[in-house]
Amino acid sequence: MKRIKIKELLASPPVGSDVLVKGWVRTRRGNKNIIFIALNDGSTIRNIQIVAETSRFGEDLIRDITTGSCIAVTGRLVESQGQGQDVEIAAAEIVIYGKCDPETYPLQKKGHSMEFLREIAHLRPRTNTFSAVLRMRHAMSFAIHKYFNDKGFYYLHTPIVTGSDAEGAGEMFHVTTFDLANVPLDSNGNPDYSLDFFGKPANLTVSGQLEGELGALALGEIYTFGPTFRAENSNTPRHLAEFWMIEPEMAFYDLNDNMDLAEDFIKYLIRYALDNCSDDLEFLNNMIDKGLYERLRFVVDNEFVRMTYTDAVRILESSGRKWEYPVGWGRDLQAEHERFLVEEHFRKPVILTDYPAEIKAFYMKQNDDGKTVRAMDVLFPGIGEIIGGSQREEDYEKLITRIREMGLPEKDLWWYLETRKFGTAPHSGFGLGLSRLMIFMTGMSNIRDVIPFPRTPKNAEF
Ligand code: 4AD
Ligand code: MG
Repeated sequence: MKRIKIKELLASPPVGSDVLVKGWVRTRRGNKNIIFIALNDGSTIRNIQIVAETSRFGEDLIRDITTGSCIAVTGRLVESQGQGQDVEIAAAEIVIYGKCDPETYPLQKKGHSMEFLREIAHLRPRTNTFSAVLRMRHAMSFAIHKYFNDKGFYYLHTPIVTGSDAEGAGEMFHVTTFDLANVPLDSNGNPDYSLDFFGKPANLTVSGQLEGELGALALGEIYTFGPTFRAENSNTPRHLAEFWMIEPEMAFYDLNDNMDLAEDFIKYLIRYALDNCSDDLEFLNNMIDKGLYERLRFVVDNEFVRMTYTDAVRILESSGRKWEYPVGWGRDLQAEHERFLVEEHFRKPVILTDYPAEIKAFYMKQNDDGKTVRAMDVLFPGIGEIIGGSQREEDYEKLITRIREMGLPEKDLWWYLETRKFGTAPHSGFGLGLSRLMIFMTGMSNIRDVIPFPRTPKNAEF
């Protein structure tokens, strides 16, 4: 008999037929004559109830059906006599694939703390919360590809190993095959990278954007979607050292087109979740964050506020608030400032534009005021910055002047600069951090709990 997934079984229950299900025991209860097993196979948050009579299977087998064990059950699907489920399986045959020792299995009882579950990240996908989060993370990844594919964007695979620092912030993990205890040195006593694997310094990418721009200036509209890495020592609930980023890049888009796309994109993803992830969302709304549904609908139903950084700073300055970090024109905004604008002042998502050039990356299009650039940050409730993007500087002279002012390695960016010499075009793009999106979509409060195996300072277990 072919195995049926529990999701499929519950979607249109073949009552009266024999079925085969396989999964992990969530709970068992009952007495010495009969046991009731809640079985979950990960296809859905919902369990199927299995009813097994001890006399039929023998006490030894029944004893080994404990929380966490893995079993296969064949039996007739029948309407349930009990409360809480419409159908159940009257077990005719049970095979135990894997026993699970009740003394040492760490997921015995409910209500473990998130911190504890992080220490058992190899097992936490078996909890309702993490399986819901991971199914939704999949759904969002799929919807992201669907959105761009339907719009005629091409998925461009930008490299993970690169010689450049796209954000110019120097927060890179180096990639080398040198024996670190014995690095070959040149005559000046510096590492002789000509002897290293790539023949030059290399690092893990912080962003696929620069290569994405090359794609946009040939294919028109592209997006990247892959892992990016930042060696920033930020121990916050919103930062990872390894995170997945979606970066669309579009020829012929100005900043307004870019903002329109970002707003439409994020609303599409929320609608997709509301339409396709109802079981998991309902669970998360009930168990993790009672305001989840409301916040998702609220974002879909409202237009994002759009205003300049300069105007936002005025609002923050006249708010009468005591800030942990100071506010003032030219200073970068911190999460507390961003969240004040979104959660208290406007009570809507906000897109801030035209930031001071000094606090933004070299590639952003310079405004005529000589002070600001065509940047945009999308700010969300509970998170702060969820998207960062800009119109790009397409003018060769302005770009190279900026690169020199900032002391960036012009030589390494020769290929990027050439696009501005050979048929340059106005273009724009942005980056959405998938895990920041997942915090918003699930109501989870820590970014470490919306990715299967988080990488953060001093932590690369699993
Ligand atoms: O604002 P960022 O640094 O912008 C870029 O990387 C641009 N190259 C994007 C572009 O224009 N193509 O990062 C973009 C987004 C942030 O808004 C945030 O959602 C996420 O990436 N992000 C992080 N997510 C988790 N952990 C971190 N350490 C993150 N840093 C950025
Ligand atoms: Mg940013």
